[in-house]
Amino acid sequence: MERQSLFFSFSFCFFLFSLLAGFQGVQGSSHHHRHHLYGTFRPTKLFVFGDSYADTGNNRKTEANSWKTPYGITFPGKPAGRFSDGRVLTDYLARFVGVKSPVTYRWRKYGGKRLRNGMNFAYGGTGVFNTLVMDPNMTTQIDFFEKLINESVFTKWDLQSSVALVTLAGNDYAAYQAKGGTDLGLPSFMTLVVNQLALNLKRIHGLGVRKVAVTALEPLGCLPRSTVKSSFQQCNGTENTAVSLHNLLLQQAVAKLNSNATKDSAFIILDLYSSFISVLQNKEQPGSLKFETPLKPCCMGISNGYYCGSEDEKGVKMYTVCENPQSSFFWDTVHPTQAGWRAVYLALQVKTCLNLTARLSLDLSVDVGDSI
Ligand SMILES: *[C@@H]1O[C@H](CO)[C@@H](O)[C@H](O)[C@H]1NC(C)=O
Ligand SMILES: *[C@@H]1O[C@H](CO)[C@@H](O)[C@H](O)[C@H]1NC(C)=O
Ligand SMILES: *[C@@H]1O[C@H](CO)[C@@H](O)[C@H](O)[C@H]1NC(C)=O
Ligand SMILES: *[C@@H]1O[C@H](CO)[C@@H](O)[C@H](O)[C@H]1NC(C)=O
Ligand SMILES: *[C@@H]1O[C@H](CO)[C@@H](O)[C@H](O)[C@H]1NC(C)=O
Repeated sequence: MERQSLFFSFSFCFFLFSLLAGFQGVQGSSHHHRHHLYGTFRPTKLFVFGDSYADTGNNRKTEANSWKTPYGITFPGKPAGRFSDGRVLTDYLARFVGVKSPVTYRWRKYGGKRLRNGMNFAYGGTGVFNTLVMDPNMTTQIDFFEKLINESVFTKWDLQSSVALVTLAGNDYAAYQAKGGTDLGLPSFMTLVVNQLALNLKRIHGLGVRKVAVTALEPLGCLPRSTVKSSFQQCNGTENTAVSLHNLLLQQAVAKLNSNATKDSAFIILDLYSSFISVLQNKEQPGSLKFETPLKPCCMGISNGYYCGSEDEKGVKMYTVCENPQSSFFWDTVHPTQAGWRAVYLALQVKTCLNLTARLSLDLSVDVGDSI
């Protein structure tokens, strides 16, 4: 395990370096000094595929909580389709890549200049396979992307200077569980999920995207929907063990993809699992708050059957919201707050990369400010 995590530290770091290598050119006015270490890859676009951890407003207004108050109260100040009080993983990764958070597929016709930042194809609730929602699964999301390439909305050059973020699979397992499992058994189902996911990653790269970052699955057993049974005191170890198997299979699949992709490591794993865990364990994170009761969500239904954002027939709100979302890691029963995502993002960066660069004595400044 130690060896593997070190390996992923290095590969994540190379990924960050290769992105950072482009910062100087892209952000000419930046006062930060950055080294050109790994060639001159200059990411100019971010393409995003996945579920609610990445969706910035594709999901349908009539069906999703993300379009109801109090979602979006921190950013942009009203519900706007993000499953959080504010920003989500996509926004932080875009910041890192050096582009504005890409326009949603839903708004592609009105994207205008914003198409220059790439596009977000992620839909809350979706999976590698069809889940409990009707929204497009990952294959269909990539079909949308391919169609836009066919229509020359994005060119070869665009793709060569682009990065993809892929984050999903939690809903595949939720759907599997909701259906009471299948004859298949969970380990075999996981193999199916990861094999299909790997095919999708390969397809995105095959369409011309230079670097493809895929997230390891977060510790599902630590989500408030699981920890509610212990009054938000304890993660469900059974569920986390299952997640670890998914993540191991994903590591193996990605290693295989990289051994085939010729020169540079085209595929990178962003380890959401360990970054969630380290934040939830309240390990010291430079520049980041500690969360008082990290497993307890900020926004909750007042009783069974109600959710964050629920109202009764008369429009009376049937949920409670904590006073200060900044001090909560989780926003609702599944999703982090903006502060939670920021801490996760810092953990991803700081733990796997800056520490490494410090040990290599490199002067590398990464702006981890909050001004997305
Ligand atoms: C994705 O969704 C489409 C449309 O529902 C379906 O035809 C296809 O089989 C799905 N793909 C996977 C891999 O489940
Ligand atoms: C894009 O074009 C290729 C080549 O013509 C074709 O095979 C593919 O089906 C098209 N994809 C979509 C989603 O339209
Ligand atoms: C943990 O999760 C498993 C699978 O969802 C479930 O069967 C079990 O009851 C849970 N354990 C606790 C202590 O909540
Ligand atoms: C790797 O390349 C070999 C030979 O071209 C091919 O048979 C195999 O399917 C590829 N594996 C992956 C994971 O792409
Ligand atoms: C850097 O990484 C090493 C080895 O993984 C670890 O022992 C050390 O505590 C880390 N330092 C910081 C500042 O995180």
